[in-house]
Amino acid sequence: MKIGIDKMAFATTDEYIDLRELARERGDEPDKYTIGIGQDRQAVVPPTQDIVTLGAAAAKKLLSKDDKKHLSTVIVATESGIDNSKASAIYIKHLLGLDDFTRAVELKEACYSATAGIQFAKGLVAMNPQSTVLVIAADIARYGLKTPGEVTQGAGAVAMLISADPHILTLEDTTVSYTKDVMDFWRPLYATEANVDGKYSTNVYVDFFLQCWQRYQQMTGRQLDDFAALTFHLPFTKMGKKALEALLKDNQSPVADKMREQLTASQKYCREVGNLYTGSLYLGVMSLLQNGQVNPGDRIGLFSYGSGAEGEFYSGILQPHFEKYLSDVKDDLANRHQVSIAEYEKQFNSQLGMNQDDVELDWQSDPALFILKGQKEHKRIYQEKK
Ligand code: CAA
Repeated sequence: MKIGIDKMAFATTDEYIDLRELARERGDEPDKYTIGIGQDRQAVVPPTQDIVTLGAAAAKKLLSKDDKKHLSTVIVATESGIDNSKASAIYIKHLLGLDDFTRAVELKEACYSATAGIQFAKGLVAMNPQSTVLVIAADIARYGLKTPGEVTQGAGAVAMLISADPHILTLEDTTVSYTKDVMDFWRPLYATEANVDGKYSTNVYVDFFLQCWQRYQQMTGRQLDDFAALTFHLPFTKMGKKALEALLKDNQSPVADKMREQLTASQKYCREVGNLYTGSLYLGVMSLLQNGQVNPGDRIGLFSYGSGAEGEFYSGILQPHFEKYLSDVKDDLANRHQVSIAEYEKQFNSQLGMNQDDVELDWQSDPALFILKGQKEHKRIYQEKK
């Protein structure tokens, strides 16, 4: 049975900062951010947005009335959950008006868990091929103002419908997972910003990619030229380049050059939004499908990485007319507006975070469909704007 990604949709906030401006404010060379790290813009998150509103916005774009009838499960994959107990998937299930006879759960493993969600969803669909599963990768990447990680922040959500006979990508059965207890990035329960050993995490990421790729090759006998493109978790676009070059080394063959070109296509949206943590790999897939040289029947490789650390390499085959089943990311990005660095800093410091008080946020000024109005008696209050 063919199972895989049937539809994909992306949502982010409507505000961004220009990273050349951030570099100047921080006393850095703009080229360090745009060339050295490979990021041009970064999503700015107003306090009225969080992973629930972003996840609901992405999912709303892809769910038709008919889709809702077949949905058995909602899986939200996130590093930046809004409650230590209750799953954000339940809030999203409510905002989307889904049937009460639906399973809803949240998964966590840094930037990796969306991939686990997809594999679990594949199993659920195999058990009941009439049913579908909604996997939402939603995150707000926060390292802190004036930290080395600041330039690699970002925010957004990718929603994916997993079904039998999918319209975008049929997932192949061979998949390689690789896990080790590593302290490269973590966030204690009392912290709203991540702890990270940035250079170490970069090295661990590359090592995990090579481990997974080599094992995948041993298991399948496939070579680089069996793939139209490799896609990567992109905490920043240079990271994907580091991983691909660790594999290609000084290979200048046409196949190697094609992989480099396809990587550039897959990095385009990440450059504009920043790190989505769990969603980054999948925004990279959308970017490749909307900007790269790909055709139905092509095999795409996916490398997922979450600090802590876990990697997974798997593959899928592109389906006819895949382009019709993706939301219009270019349009979303073109409709955002730029804010100043001072405005970004103000918004960064205005998140609900660890605030325990009752708060009513200025939600009328947020044009998003789903908004966080504030909190009362320690309960977050969400609303769909009609
Ligand atoms: N022009 C062009 N390039 C320049 C430059 C200039 N003027 N100045 C510096 N550069 C280059 C440097 O040579 C360097 O390139 P290489 O990495 O290719 O050597 C690059 O810009 C970055 O410079 P630094 O290493 O000096 O930058 P930094 O010390 O400020 O740290 C960082 C960069 C480690 C990525 C930091 O931003 C960080 O810690 N980010 C968060 C951690 C992260 O994303 N890790 C990735 C793997 S972990 C993961 O993927 C999980 C997850 O998402 C959480």
